[in-house]
Amino acid sequence: MSQLPAILNAENIHKTYRMGATRVNVLKGVDLAVHEGEFIAIVGASGSGKSTLLHILGGLDRPDKGVIRFNGRDLNRIGARELNKFRNERVGFVFQFYHLLDELSVLENVLLPAMVSRSVVGWLTSRRTVRKRAEGLLDQLGLRERARHKPYQLSGGERQRVAVGRALMNQPKLLLADEPTGNLDSATGNGILNVFETLNKAGQTIVMVTHDERIARKAQRIVTLVDGRAR
Ligand SMILES: Nc1ncnc2c1ncn2[C@@H]1O[C@H](COP(=O)(O)OP(=O)(O)O)[C@@H](O)[C@H]1O
Ligand SMILES: [Mg+2]
Repeated sequence: MSQLPAILNAENIHKTYRMGATRVNVLKGVDLAVHEGEFIAIVGASGSGKSTLLHILGGLDRPDKGVIRFNGRDLNRIGARELNKFRNERVGFVFQFYHLLDELSVLENVLLPAMVSRSVVGWLTSRRTVRKRAEGLLDQLGLRERARHKPYQLSGGERQRVAVGRALMNQPKLLLADEPTGNLDSATGNGILNVFETLNKAGQTIVMVTHDERIARKAQRIVTLVDGRAR
């Protein structure tokens, strides 16, 4: 693994939350390198900072101290606008509760990141190819018959597969998932894990957060968050 280049390097990451007079030191010097093609599970007790770390790795939040390098670039040194672009194009997120838009169809939910990343003209000239890609993803995820449905018409497992399709739409270098099976029964959760395994075999780099050791075993490498550090 280590001979392949690191996509992401987190060095000495610190994060503290202040709630009135109390301070919660959540991350106290996390070091983590994610290499191309890896499937990493981040485990740890509830409240150990797994979501906080994942958000920082994906540029959804900034650390108080420490450096995140993505393909060698320091995320702390890029402005808000470029950070948005980075999140949209380089990273795909999957969350426990799907976060789909119920007013949009399944196909539109998957298309959304591609629309966001384009100008109006860019969208008009590329929409046919982009739509093909979205349909291909739905096919691959077993959702071909669901393209015109709304998310609320789907089961939890189907919704999560839509969320995976949306995360993959812009061909991200890195797929980040926060308890992606946390809201699913174990058979349905296994279906999502199988999707992740298939994607990883095809080269997709994945970092998945889970509090469930059994689920973590599906990954190639397990990183444990204890006492604000990664082991
Ligand atoms: N926005 C926030 N403001 C204040 N405290 C927070 C915030 N987000 C998380 N925390 C606290 O930080 C700790 C770690 O949270 P989190 O990263 O969500 O843990 P995990 O995902 O491992 O359960 C918890 O004690 C949580 O209450
Ligand atoms: Mg969490």
